[in-house]
Parts: sequence; structure tokens; C-alpha cells
Amino acid sequence: MRIGILTSGGDCPGINATIRGVCKTAMNHYGMEVFGIHSGFRGLVDDDVIPLTEGSLTGLLNMGGTILGTSREKPFKRKNNTLTEDKPAMMLKTIEKHQLDCIVCIGGNGTQKTAAKLADTGVNVVSIPKTIDNDVWGTDVSFGFDSAVSIATDAIDRLHSTASAHQRVMVIEVMGHKAGWIALYSGMAGGGDIILLPEIPFDIHNIGDTIINRLKKGKPYSIVVVAEGIPTVNGKKAAQYIAEEIEYETGFETRETVLGYIQRGGSPTAFDRNLATRMGGHATELIAGGQFGRMVSLHGSEITSVPLGEVAGKLKLVTEDNDLVVQGRRMGICFG
Ligand code: F6P
Repeated sequence: MRIGILTSGGDCPGINATIRGVCKTAMNHYGMEVFGIHSGFRGLVDDDVIPLTEGSLTGLLNMGGTILGTSREKPFKRKNNTLTEDKPAMMLKTIEKHQLDCIVCIGGNGTQKTAAKLADTGVNVVSIPKTIDNDVWGTDVSFGFDSAVSIATDAIDRLHSTASAHQRVMVIEVMGHKAGWIALYSGMAGGGDIILLPEIPFDIHNIGDTIINRLKKGKPYSIVVVAEGIPTVNGKKAAQYIAEEIEYETGFETRETVLGYIQRGGSPTAFDRNLATRMGGHATELIAGGQFGRMVSLHGSEITSVPLGEVAGKLKLVTEDNDLVVQGRRMGICFG
């Protein structure tokens, strides 16, 4: 069997670990041949495909980024309702030319959508969820998330001492796209006093009151963790908007930090390495068993899979009854 593997969308820690998991299992256990497709779906369109060998897999487990490169190419997207180039046909030509029996697509929500469309054209597809945002529907956790949370938590930890020294309000903006998972998990782990998520509406007066009440209790500083996806005005970035509003409401000296791409770079945590490895292995099991059109997923502690058609187009968001939100509220943390 000959399989192609591609990585698409924003990178995250753990992609190389999953490439390694797929390739080593496919080659050593199942005797498959593996081909790397460069720059996501663009490599399928442009026929940018190379054979992978054991030698290509050295040092991957703890390496950030992706050795295959990535892009946000959406080959099924139409411009003005027409396809400017027939990219779907170009992809099929590449798959035929290299006699690929299956394409393994590693990516976030956009990738799952494209992978589902590719499967609809009759191509054998197996996908693996990856994103720091943790917003892929159908899996409890995607690899990359734990690493991003750990980086953001470390950053929040560091803000406590400077906030306390200067008696300031520190606002830190973390990534997550439309979801608040990184803000919730790093905010709770980092001891944030106010945590703002796109999923939970907030009232700026309430936030101001929380900060003033902390002062009354002898805590003249506060840590505010905001998800990048919260609603703002006039196109302002989340941290800037919240910092300005807090300063206006409370008169407290306020500073903002936007953590940015640091959350996506570098080495994966041990949890992410093992999750990525297990997911990669399971993808090859699906291929060997002829179970195509599925996305590998983590359900509880078990690695399983779900139909791609059920995943595509859905977002997994934080809900008000999430146990960390409930517990945070019980402890007096303000969610808005
Ligand atoms: O999906 C991962 C992510 O890092 C989001 O958290 C963020 O909103 C987005 O990608 C940034 O995208 P880009 O790499 O296109 O700047």
C-alpha cells in the first residue's frame, strides 16, 4: 500500500511527532510506503510529493513546526462561483500519478472540511486533528493544545510578580480563534482573577467591580486572561480593548500583553508527544483496516475515530456548564 501524508492549516507543537507516528507504524508494522506531500493541499495541487524513509524521520518527536510545511490552501473554494483552476482535478491527477491508496490529512477545522470534500470525490482519506485551539469537533482534545496551555500558563505565572510589584492590572491575550479553550485552561492554571471567553458574554462594569472588590480585600492587583476571539469594538484587539475599558472603569494602571505565536512554536509537551504518537498509529490502523473517511479522535482515554462527514463544519466550543468554568465561578473567578 502507498499512502500520502500532508499537514495543513496553522502549525502547532506535535505535528512532527504525529508524522513520525504515522510513518514508523506504516513502514515498520504494516510494510506500507509513505510519501510526504509538501505545504498541505497545495502540494497535492502542484504535485510536490517526495518518498519518505526512516532517514526522513530522525529527531521528529520533540521538533516544533512541520517537516512537510503547511499552507492554508483551500482547493475546493470557488472564486465568484467558478473554479479559477480546476484544483480538485489537479489533486486527483497527483494522487493517480503516485498511485496513492490513501491520503492522511493532519490539520484543524479547515483541514477537516477539505479532507471531507476530498473523500467525497472518492479518494480514500483518513484525518488527524491538530490545533492549539482545541476546537475540532469530535475529539475531546487535539494535540498542540496542552503545549499552548503550558506556554500561556508560564506567561501568566510571570505576570503575577510584576502585577503585584506595581499594583497594576495585567491583561493577557491568548490565542484560540473563536474558542476560549486556551484562555480557560491557562487562565485557571495560571490563577487568573478574570477570564474572558468568546462563548460567555461579559459586562465591563462587573469586571471593574471585581477589580475594585479585590482592592477592598487587600489585593491591589489583578490578572485578566482574555481569549483573542472575544467581541470588541472598532476592530480593536481583545487585550487593548479590555485594558482600555478597565482603566476607564476603575482608574487602575493597566498593562496589556499579547502572547501571540509563541503559543504555537517549539517543542510539544510530553502529553502532546504521546497523544500525537497514538493518533498517528491509529490512523495507520484505520488505513490497514480499510476504514476511510474517518477522523482519529480521543474519547475519554481511548483513541478511536469518528466519520469525517460528522466533523466538518462544526466547532467545539466551551459551554457554561464546563466543570472548570463551574469550579472557577465557585472560587470567585469572574467570567464576565
Ligand atoms: O488556529 C490556530 C491559530 O493560531 C489561532 O489561534 C489563531 O487565531 C490563528 O491560528 C492565526 O492564524 P495565522 O497563522 O493565519 O495568523
